[in-house]
Amino acid sequence: MEIFNEGQLKKQLEKVVSTNREIVKQDIYYPSYHIAAPVGLINDPNGWIQWNGVYHLFYQWMPFHTGHGAKLWGHVTSTNLVDWKEEQPALLPTEVYDKDGCYSGSAIAYNNKLYLFYTGNVKKDGKREAYQCIAVSEDGIHFEKLGAVISVPEGYTAHFRDPKVWQSGEMFYLVLGAQRQDEIGCVVLYQSNDLLNWEFVNEIAGGYGYMWECPDYFQLDSRDVLIFSPQGLEQDGEKNMNTFQSGYAFGKWQEDKTLQLDSFIELDKGFDFYAPQTTLDEKGRRLLFGWMGMADDDEQYHPTHQNKWIHQLTIPRELVLKGEQIYQQPVAEMQLLRKEKLLDNEIIAHKYRFSLPRTVEICASNQNNADFTISIFGIITIVYSAKSQKITVSRNTLKNGEIEFRYGTVKNQVDDFHVFIDQSSLELFINNGEVVFSMRMFPDADNHVVEFNGNLVVSTWKL
Ligand code: FRU
Repeated sequence: MEIFNEGQLKKQLEKVVSTNREIVKQDIYYPSYHIAAPVGLINDPNGWIQWNGVYHLFYQWMPFHTGHGAKLWGHVTSTNLVDWKEEQPALLPTEVYDKDGCYSGSAIAYNNKLYLFYTGNVKKDGKREAYQCIAVSEDGIHFEKLGAVISVPEGYTAHFRDPKVWQSGEMFYLVLGAQRQDEIGCVVLYQSNDLLNWEFVNEIAGGYGYMWECPDYFQLDSRDVLIFSPQGLEQDGEKNMNTFQSGYAFGKWQEDKTLQLDSFIELDKGFDFYAPQTTLDEKGRRLLFGWMGMADDDEQYHPTHQNKWIHQLTIPRELVLKGEQIYQQPVAEMQLLRKEKLLDNEIIAHKYRFSLPRTVEICASNQNNADFTISIFGIITIVYSAKSQKITVSRNTLKNGEIEFRYGTVKNQVDDFHVFIDQSSLELFINNGEVVFSMRMFPDADNHVVEFNGNLVVSTWKL
C-alpha cells in the first residue's frame, strides 16, 4: 500500500533538481570527479556492485534540503570507475514500511536480476520502527519493491538497519547493524535459501559503543573481515578522534556461529570518513567507497549549504591485505583522469612553492625517509616526522577559525605518498595506502599555493 503518491514525489524531485542543478554545479567547491548529489545531501554509499560488467553505485540522498531526513536511493553507473552516469533514483520512500526513509543497504545479483536490500525507516508518534526490505530489477535501472522481509526481533531496539547481503554456496546471508535492548552496539546475522525468507541465526559480534552502523562482512585473502561504523567510542589519545568511527576488525568464526573479533582498527585517519561499503568486482578486487562526511554539528559550517548541496563520497579504493593490516589504494583506473603533467619528477631539496589547480593528483617519493611538510591552499598542512614515524594533518576550519589535528603512524618510514585533490576534498594515501586521511576543505577561491619542504621527488597531474 502506497502512502505517498509516487508520481507527485517524482515531480517534486524533477523540479528541485532542474531548478538547482546549475547553482550546485557552479559552486567552486563542487567536486569534478567525485560522486556528489546533483542537489541536496548525500551520505552513505549503498548497493555497491558490478553487474554484467557495469558498476552500480547507489547512495543515501536527501534532494529537498541539505539536512538529513526521509532518504531516497540515488543511483549512478559506470564501466570504468571514473566516468559516472546519473540514473533515475532507484528507491523512493513511498510505502508504509519505508515512509521516513529508504535507509542504507546493499545489492546482490541472482538469477539475472538485481536485488536491493535496504532498511525501511518509519517514525510513528515520534517512535522509530525499522523494516528490512527488498526491491528487484531486471534492467538494473527500474526497481520494483517486494516489501519488508525482516522486522526487529526480541532483544533489540529499532536501531536495526543497513543490511549487507552475500551468497555463499547455496545459501544467502546478511548482516545488520543493531543495538541491544541495553543500548550496546552489535551485528546480527540472518540466512535464507531463496533471498526472500530470512531466518535469524545469531548475534555475531558486539559489546561496545551504543550502535554499530553499516556492517560489511567479507573475506580478504581468506581472512574474515568485518567493517563497521561503531557509534559511541571514546577518543583514545590519537585514535577515534572523529565524532563517529569507521573501521574494521579481523575475526574468527566460532562453533557457536559468533565471529570473534580482534581489536577495532580505523580505516581512515582523516576528518571525514564514514559508512564505507565494499564489493568484489569482476576482476576479483575488493573495492570500497566511503562517505566523505560525518553526521555531526560540523555539518553546519560547510559553506555549500547556500548553494543547495552538501557532502560527497571518496574515490573508489582497492583493499589489499599486507601482513596484519588492510591497505587502501586508489583504484588503478584513477589514472584515466590524468590530463596535463604539471611537475615531472621535480626534485625538491628544501622549500618550493608551486601554483597548482584545484583538481590535481600529486605523487611523491620521500628521499632518505626525511622529514617533510606540505601546505595546501593555505588550509591543510601535512607534517611528517621521521623520528616519531608520525604524520600530522592540520586543517583550518570555518568553525571560529579553529585548527584541528589528526594523526597517523607508519610501521617503518614514509617512502612515498599520493594525494587526490578535488576542489574541496583531499585524500592522502601514505605508503600505498598503509595510512589514509580523507578530508573536506574550503580554501579561499584564489589560493592555489602548494608548498613542499623536504627531500622529495614530486610529479603532479591536472585531473
Ligand atoms: C549511516 C546511517 C545509516 C542509515 C543511514 C541513513 O550514516 O545513519 O545507519 O541507514 O545513514 O541515511
